[in-house]
Amino acid sequence: MKFLQVTQESLELGARTLLEGGLVAFPTETVYGLGADAFNPKALANVFEVKGRPSFDPLIIHIAAIETLDKVANLSLLSSDAREKLFLLAKNFWPGPLSIVLPKNERIPMVATAGLQTAAIRFPDNDTAQKLISLSSGAVAAPSANPFGALSPTRAEHVRSGLGEKIDIILDGGPARIGLESTVLDITGAVKILRPGGTPREAIEKLIDPVEEHSITAKDNCPLVSPGQLKSHYAPGTPLFVLNRDEIIERHFNAADYEKIAFLFIDGSTKDAWKAAHNNSNFEYRLLSQSGNMAEAASRLFETLHELDNGNFASIYAQLAPQEGLGAAINDRLKRGARGG
Ligand code: TXA
Ligand code: MG
Repeated sequence: MKFLQVTQESLELGARTLLEGGLVAFPTETVYGLGADAFNPKALANVFEVKGRPSFDPLIIHIAAIETLDKVANLSLLSSDAREKLFLLAKNFWPGPLSIVLPKNERIPMVATAGLQTAAIRFPDNDTAQKLISLSSGAVAAPSANPFGALSPTRAEHVRSGLGEKIDIILDGGPARIGLESTVLDITGAVKILRPGGTPREAIEKLIDPVEEHSITAKDNCPLVSPGQLKSHYAPGTPLFVLNRDEIIERHFNAADYEKIAFLFIDGSTKDAWKAAHNNSNFEYRLLSQSGNMAEAASRLFETLHELDNGNFASIYAQLAPQEGLGAAINDRLKRGARGG
């Protein structure tokens, strides 16, 4: 595996490696992706192998120009109403953290879409990603570059420690700006958010009609529409418990003398109220945003969970964010990562 800084040379090597069927991890504005040529079935199969990802979980196809949409999707299968929505969404949110589920082009192998006739397409807002994609085939399938079910990588180092020698190249483009995956939006029928993410529902609803959301509080036995809805996902190795603001301030926490417990706060005022109520030298805390700014909190979420996960804590108690804007995506990841609480 080559761990490379981003230069014209490393971008060209990365693109060649993709065209030859190799796997290249690269930065996007959301999280790091594990890229494979979206038209190469063998390379795509290898992505599932390396991630330990079940074959029923489809990949997102990344493009770097609107013109490429026709190569990866079959827009003639969309209703004119859906086409209109696609146009509005693309105009307003691309490049950016929105993956749109569309009828797939027949050139995209079934292995990429896990047998579905649809593909989630995204145009990432990151220079390195765009250059790498443009220099290769123009379409790069990329799941988040972490072992299946584990925390998503927001830094190149996270990719190295999670996947390391299993892949050909890691392009280090610094920390991911948004730090949370894209919103996955299905517009092939009634518009649905399949995964909350970097593009808030409220922003989407300003443009198009109200959208349904498949919440993880839905019954566990309901059919899996987007496998990113798997309840246990984005999980750190350390047991994670989620609590709302009042619970985290008011609950009495027990720690054995030899145990360290970590607390993760969304905003400074909750942290201050908790500090006033709890005084235990075995307790440590991290704060995502002093002012409670959700974009700042989102950008630090996975990074802070990675750090705490390596900190030998017996457990992590995390505060839930207000359930609006990016807070909805933060809560989604925290709840899926939680094993209880
Ligand atoms: O921000 C992101 O989306 C990152 C970066 C690398 O772009 N990628 C990412 O990929 O999060 P991944 O594989 O970890 O998550 C893809 C999600 C999964 O929940 C998958 O089930 C859903 O997208 N998905 C992909 N194709 C789909 C399809 N055709 N229909 C429904 N859901 C789909
Ligand atoms: Mg993922």
